[in-house]
Order: sequence, then C-alpha cells, then structure tokens
Amino acid sequence: MIGKLSHVAIAVPDLDAAAATYRDTLGATVGAPQDEPDHGVTVVFIELPNTKIELLHPLGEDSPINGFLAKNPSGGIHHMCFEVDDIIAARDHLLARGARVLGDGNPKTGAHGKPVLFLHPRDFNGTLIELEEV
Ligand code: CO
Repeated sequence: MIGKLSHVAIAVPDLDAAAATYRDTLGATVGAPQDEPDHGVTVVFIELPNTKIELLHPLGEDSPINGFLAKNPSGGIHHMCFEVDDIIAARDHLLARGARVLGDGNPKTGAHGKPVLFLHPRDFNGTLIELEEV
C-alpha cells in the first residue's frame, strides 16, 4: 500500500541555523521557509536526489511541535511521510486493521497542497507516520 518515502521531518529549534547546516555543511539544495498556519509550523524543504528532508519549526504558541522540542531541545526526527495513491482507501485499510488515525480521521491539506493524514506512533514502533496522497 505505501509507496515512496516522501520525506523525513526533523523538528528544529532554529530554522535558519538548521537550513544553513544543510545548505553549507552538507551541501544540499535548500528551499525557502513556508508558513503553514493550519499545521502550526514553518517548514523548509531540503531536496535530495531520492527524497526530501522537512525541517519543522513551531509557528504560534499552540504549535503541535512545541512539546516535542521541549523534550528534545536540540531537535530530532519528528515523523516520516510515505506516499499513497488513494488516501481514503489507505485510511480505511489501516482502520480495518486496528491502526489509529490522528485527529478527526479526515485528511488535511499538507505542505505540498496534497491530502495528508497522520497515524498514531504507538501503532508503528514509536514512529509518527504521515501519509500523503500523490
Ligand atoms: Co511531513
């Protein structure tokens, strides 16, 4: 059911510093910061030949990643995103197998303007998983 790895997301305490590390130290192609008020984050995408890295920084006081950064002050891997062809079919397949979908169970619009869902980390070895319809 899952397809390509869309991205690995890393929560970072300083977005400019993290973007500079990927651009200058690691020599990667780094995009411009984008605010995503619906998700409470500002993101920077790093383009790699086979996937992307999504740097996540809190936007607003009730950002869902404030708690993560409080526990991981120097940042850390926050989630992985897999591509799926049909997000509703994927959701129904997962629900039928006992996996938990976060929020109200309906897709939201993600960073690339496509529908996304998040799955409960306890059902996936402690890893928060995002699905993105492509
Ligand atoms: Co993501």
